[in-house]
Amino acid sequence: MASELLNTVDLDAELQKASPQKVIEYALEQFDNIVVSFSGAEDVVLIHMAHQIRPDIKAFVLDTGRLHAETYRFIERVREHYGIDIDVLSPDAEAIRKLVREKGLFSFYLDGHQECCGIRKIGPLRKKLKEVDAWITGQRKDQSPGTRQGIPVIQDDKLFARPGGNLVKFNPLANWTSQQVWDYIRAMEIPYNELHDKGYVSIGCEPCTRPISPGQHERAGRWWWEEATKKECGLHAENVKP
Ligand code: ADX
Ligand code: SF4
Repeated sequence: MASELLNTVDLDAELQKASPQKVIEYALEQFDNIVVSFSGAEDVVLIHMAHQIRPDIKAFVLDTGRLHAETYRFIERVREHYGIDIDVLSPDAEAIRKLVREKGLFSFYLDGHQECCGIRKIGPLRKKLKEVDAWITGQRKDQSPGTRQGIPVIQDDKLFARPGGNLVKFNPLANWTSQQVWDYIRAMEIPYNELHDKGYVSIGCEPCTRPISPGQHERAGRWWWEEATKKECGLHAENVKP
């Protein structure tokens, strides 16, 4: 299916009005070789929706080696609950060894998260995305006024496409609010990460994520020592304007 380049700009204008379920249905109709990028948080709704259409939907997790124990437990729960293949990707061992030897285990507090995220997330992501024609993420506009206001529902992913190849990125939840995601999780009795019951809203790696207080924006709990406009790790680097 769809190996030729889709006109993602026109399609995006149409799909902006569609429900997440419709966007996922469209994505799965167009692509066989498509994968869900699952962070181990509330983006489990993507797996639920995709699994209803394609029971053998594939997902991957970037296992940075620094996720919470609760997140590892949750990933296993999701794998068992849906009976799906979740590819758990590890970073390059030599690159990690070098970083830790030179700068220690918490260098990101001193010189920013880009280097560590680059090794623990972006390297494995780049490799994984070379294997597929399309990927589905749980990005939403309401996650970050600083960086995610303009995210499309479908986009031509030039950042991670193989040289000379095409890669399409779907963000089916772009227009849903956090409230809508949680209403859906509760209504469908979808399993969720136990950290959400401990004050965590947006969940990433353990040293770079903390619970937030009522009234704080969800991104306030991520890389809290950095400016709001820098709170992207490179997975969605197209959101950051130079
Ligand atoms: S991040 O770039 O700041 O870390 P965020 O946590 O908001 O991203 O998640 C947005 C989407 O990025 C998730 O719904 C998921 O699709 C993808 N994502 C984030 N972290 C991971 C991860 N560790 N493994 C796989 N996908 C991820
Ligand atoms: Fe490293 Fe923190 Fe990025 Fe995780 S979120 S990869 S621990 S800098």
